[in-house]
Amino acid sequence: MAGFISTNIAMGQTIPSTIPSTQPLLQRDETPQQHNARMKWWREARFGLFIHWGVYSVPAGVYKDKEVPGIGEWIMNHAKIPVAEYAQYTEQFNPAGFDAEHWVRIAQAAGMKYIVITAKHHDGFAMFHTKVDGYNITDATPFERDPLAELADACQVAGIKLGFYYSQCQDWHHPGGDAKGGHWDKAQDGDFDAYLKNIAVPQVRELLTNYGPVAVLWFDTPSKLMTPQRAAEFLPLLKLQPQIIVNNRLGGGFKGDTETPEQHIPPGGYPGEDWETCMTINDTWGYKVNDVNFKSTDALLRNLVDIASKGGNYLLNVGPTSEGIIPEPEVERLKAIGDWLKVNGDSIYGTGPTAFGDEAGYFDPVKKDKHGRPIWVAKWDWRCTTGPGKLYIHFFKWPDHVFVLKGVTGSVGKAYMLADERQNGIPFEQNGNQVSVKIPPIAPDPVDSVLVLDLSPGK
Ligand code: GLC
Repeated sequence: MAGFISTNIAMGQTIPSTIPSTQPLLQRDETPQQHNARMKWWREARFGLFIHWGVYSVPAGVYKDKEVPGIGEWIMNHAKIPVAEYAQYTEQFNPAGFDAEHWVRIAQAAGMKYIVITAKHHDGFAMFHTKVDGYNITDATPFERDPLAELADACQVAGIKLGFYYSQCQDWHHPGGDAKGGHWDKAQDGDFDAYLKNIAVPQVRELLTNYGPVAVLWFDTPSKLMTPQRAAEFLPLLKLQPQIIVNNRLGGGFKGDTETPEQHIPPGGYPGEDWETCMTINDTWGYKVNDVNFKSTDALLRNLVDIASKGGNYLLNVGPTSEGIIPEPEVERLKAIGDWLKVNGDSIYGTGPTAFGDEAGYFDPVKKDKHGRPIWVAKWDWRCTTGPGKLYIHFFKWPDHVFVLKGVTGSVGKAYMLADERQNGIPFEQNGNQVSVKIPPIAPDPVDSVLVLDLSPGK
């Protein structure tokens, strides 16, 4: 069983330069074997559903008849809505259309293996029946149900993993909670340690106690307030779910299990690390009625493939409405990805990264994104994922006649299209490390057709 060390660093241990020696050591106490066993399902899963759902779906991006720029779940902060006024949205929050089993079916039809849902976002509103105070969906809304309990049951039945997002540092409702940009309402002022002790820690304890197996704990936006000592207050709770996977956003120097690049795909992945790109389907996490800037299914599917080819997971977000409905354009896109995975899933689930180095593109020498980061320009028309004895070549652009692949280590026994159930062989030649495949005239799939090069001996 994995345990956690949060005692002071003992004499003679290596002390990370950023953490003074009086600070707690924030890491899990487990062997590499135990760690690998704990991460196994997650590494094989590759594709998960992020759900940002909260009371912010009531204003849905509009305050006092004006569109509030930015992501929907930040509306309280962006529009500086007073605490008591924002809390009134709870009276209109009655998601009668919420059907946990239906949501789970949507995730499964998309080929997703896990779900991570917002249990409490920065607005401080608990989407579960917390006993800590009444600011939660069961006690403060006409809905009166506990959607996370219903989702936990539905996930259990369907055999899909469930995880919780919890905003441990920012909380714009409870006194003492942190707020990016500072408090804007006196009601927010208070003691951060009291907030941790009375709200955040007990709520995380509830989440890890009352909802059956919790596969993932997804913390977010730690500020400097989240010192190693404060972060350490959460660690004993993880023993309640010894197999739980925790992201890298608790703060205080806790590394966690997973890197979490947001809204982008790191060019070379994070070699040797577990990582997960989280991404919106449109431009917001929490529902905004006017955000219809949906990414195309093609782009989303190629993102999944690109991420898998770099050894990562894709946590793709939906933002349900205040009626409890996942918007149809999101459902459609997920379904299309799932249809592709039904045919081509072997080239994604449980696969490893490309066998062909990191030449898949370049940083634009001039352009920068809105965060000032260099923009990655993908160069290749194809990606590669790997399975035991197999190279999966994903063609985003169908090659003319012959596809030449250099740098193949091993001897190819057979080439076939993954979409071809009968695995009819495709002619190819191998000269040393170079393989030339005679490409059939018609691509099996307009977005990504997968060629399998079978390196198993004896084929
Ligand atoms: C950011 C935002 C947040 C969103 C998250 C998802 O950190 O604060 O609203 O939940 O990203 O990764």
